[in-house]
Amino acid sequence: MAANKNLLMLPGDGIGPEVMRETRRVIEWMAKKRAVSFDVTEDLVGGSAIDAHGIPVTDDTVEKAQKADAVLLGAVGGPKWDNLPFEQKPERGLLRLRKELELFANLRPAVCFPALADASSLKRELVEGLDIMIVRELTGGVYFGTPRGIETLPDGQRRGVNTQVYTTNEIRRVAAVAFELARKRGNRVTSCEKANVMESGVLWREEVQKLHDESYKDVELSHMYADNAAMQLVRAPKQFDVIVTDNLFGDILSDEAAMLTGSLGMLPSASLGAPDATGRRKALYEPVHGSAPDIAGQNAANPIATILSFAMALRYTFDMGDEADLVEKAVKDVLEKGMRTGDIMQKGTAKVSTSVMGDSLILALNNLAA
Ligand code: IPM
Ligand code: MG
Repeated sequence: MAANKNLLMLPGDGIGPEVMRETRRVIEWMAKKRAVSFDVTEDLVGGSAIDAHGIPVTDDTVEKAQKADAVLLGAVGGPKWDNLPFEQKPERGLLRLRKELELFANLRPAVCFPALADASSLKRELVEGLDIMIVRELTGGVYFGTPRGIETLPDGQRRGVNTQVYTTNEIRRVAAVAFELARKRGNRVTSCEKANVMESGVLWREEVQKLHDESYKDVELSHMYADNAAMQLVRAPKQFDVIVTDNLFGDILSDEAAMLTGSLGMLPSASLGAPDATGRRKALYEPVHGSAPDIAGQNAANPIATILSFAMALRYTFDMGDEADLVEKAVKDVLEKGMRTGDIMQKGTAKVSTSVMGDSLILALNNLAA
């Protein structure tokens, strides 16, 4: 018998619990209809952990995350915790999980579903058929570099410091993930940095090129300054296949890419560690969107990004590509039927709540499996 599949669920704050509730129904559907069951444990992260324990993630939760086959996270943060000191903010819980689990490779696919091409702020012909994979470095760079902090200078001014820093290995391991993915897709990688102004960018470019020449000559590699990449993403996004970039540029470029697809409410992500001796890699799956406090608790959020994040878990952690395809197909069907949460609303479509979107997805899954 196959080992149990352990899933740690961290719904978090804002719309996190609502979108996770609908995802849970998809997980239960898998158990009922596909005979694949998951051992699901729920825990707290972000503001909800602060309220319960005074800190954004406890050691116990981090340990559970280390042991789980996959972590599924909703969203963290909200106005209630905005005034806390920096180190205690909800976001620190998520950053600690990424860092301690060493989830250095963040996969953020930006796929435009045909039914949503008109929901994009760009023209249909620019985004129709779009399928980009952004690979963002997630445990290094300016997010974690030291020295960092805010200090008061002798003359009374204050000085804020962060450090952008990358080592050879940090660059090579994330670039390798990008090359491997490219081989299974369009076989093209665009590496983005600011080598024109930053030494860390020069190193980035050199190391990516070296790794390419050593081991991935079959993959087409190009380099692009990150500002140009931002421009090209809205000018002609379909020129890209896989984009690999650092933590901060990846944060920005992935939000931009998300909007090409119609809404931030559609985008899943996977954060992966290095494979261990048995080939298992630690993994955390989460939507790219945030906690959306303005619509939290109203049953209005789009659960699709989180449900697609679960589909990524099926594909990358559980090696269940067929089931992942099924979930993605169900999303496509529901969108084609004109079901829309507020964020992807268009003329001639029906505005539905979070839970009705969940109902429709279960119905679509039933139809596909029938
Ligand atoms: C993201 C988010 C996070 C980040 C925040 C919530 C810390 O914007 O996952 O893109 O900046 O990495
Ligand atoms: Mg972001």
